[in-house]
Amino acid sequence: MLQHAAVDQPAIPGLALAARSWTEMATLERRVNEAVESLRLSRPKRARSHSFLSHMQAQVDAWLRTDKPEYLDEANLAPERRVAIVQALHLFNKSVFAYRRFYRELKPWLQEIHTTEGRPARVLELASGSGEFSLTLADLAQRDGLAVEVTGSDYFAEHVATCNAKAVERALPVTFIEANAFDLSDIPVGTYDIIFIAQSSHHFSPGQNAVMIAQATKIATLGFISIDGQRSVLLFALPAIDLFIGGRDFTHDSIISLRKFYTHSELELIANIAVPNGIINVRPVNPGYSLLTVFS
Ligand SMILES: C[S@@+](CC[C@H](N)C(=O)[O-])C[C@H]1O[C@@H](n2cnc3c(N)ncnc32)[C@H](O)[C@@H]1O
Repeated sequence: MLQHAAVDQPAIPGLALAARSWTEMATLERRVNEAVESLRLSRPKRARSHSFLSHMQAQVDAWLRTDKPEYLDEANLAPERRVAIVQALHLFNKSVFAYRRFYRELKPWLQEIHTTEGRPARVLELASGSGEFSLTLADLAQRDGLAVEVTGSDYFAEHVATCNAKAVERALPVTFIEANAFDLSDIPVGTYDIIFIAQSSHHFSPGQNAVMIAQATKIATLGFISIDGQRSVLLFALPAIDLFIGGRDFTHDSIISLRKFYTHSELELIANIAVPNGIINVRPVNPGYSLLTVFS
């Protein structure tokens, strides 16, 4: 529920085709913002002619959607509150086995690179926050005898410094660097095989996601992979647990997140415009997550 697949899918090819001719990142960002807005604005009309249930779902979706920022997105949020929210997210991630589940999704691609290239797969994680997924990825791969080179990154310097200290303390071969997910222009093409991001796409506008995907698929030899929360009414049961795990700030941000998650069709549209000839796949990772892969 809230995916609107039957209602939105017929509109995707036309919207993607109309927005595909871009050369500048600024044009890409604007076109994608317009395309996703158009998909959302025209949804109630398509839903009405589809079925009563689709119409009701589109109404509920439009009512839930918000542009409100999460506390984490506020530039002047006190650093200790920012760190506390990211730490609460880590506790939540652990409690739902998120890291192991994300690793399971990446593992076949890591193995493929290892087999075809005969060397460790090189992974860059964007917006790695607490850094715990990058650290777990290195740890689990080591246990599986799978050679990987993991780099975590975030635009918030304090996260990067803390994560590098964690890597040293745990003797894990992970390096963390400062990187803005929307400006990867300093990273030479071919530096990484996979550029990965978890639970962050909903923080970014459709256009910002497109810019990130376009740049990442140019740099990475294999492609870009994103896992984020799945847009579904079922997840609205989570804030009760969030309050218990992470307190008020984290619960506030969780509720905003649930209202902002992208549908599979929206992700497909964004990726289609960002990488017009890409191999794009969006699917659920149940329960709770959506996976987007974009290979060029
Ligand atoms: C919801 S947290 C996700 C953290 C981690 N990926 C996880 O799953 O636990 C979002 C992260 O995105 C980072 N972030 C936000 N905007 C960013 C940008 N433009 N470039 C890089 N990181 C960014 C924030 O600092 C924060 O650590």
